[in-house]
Amino acid sequence: MTVTDRELLNIAKQASENAYAPYSRFKVGAALECESGRVFTGCNVENAALGSTMCAERVAIYKAVSEGEIHFSRIAIYAESVDYCMPCGACRQVMSEFSQDMEVLCAKATGSYVSYRLNQLLPHTFKFGDF
Ligand code: THU
Repeated sequence: MTVTDRELLNIAKQASENAYAPYSRFKVGAALECESGRVFTGCNVENAALGSTMCAERVAIYKAVSEGEIHFSRIAIYAESVDYCMPCGACRQVMSEFSQDMEVLCAKATGSYVSYRLNQLLPHTFKFGDF
């Protein structure tokens, strides 16, 4: 049984509570649904060396890949923000490595969300060997 969009968004919101974001104070949560039905969560993990910070989406993706899952159907992203929390360029590129047709649900503080296909957010993706 697969979870609904709303359930996946609630899981992402819960995951955002674990965010380690003392520098930006911008807490992000992600919930990644694999084609198998398994769901992996992530939150952003910041670092005093700011470039070592990792986004919530990539935490969820790397957790999934490290557990043997590489085919993804949906990712829900939540932040307690005024605007919809869109994935950054690096996260889009990492998603595209695995599932160019996956759904990306982007929520904001009110709980409302917008939904895209990854290839809308990152068309003409770089692929190693495309030269
Ligand atoms: N952040 C994410 O977790 N996901 C994104 O797609 C964009 C940005 C985090 C990184 C950093 O901890 C904070 O948001 C502010 O950039």
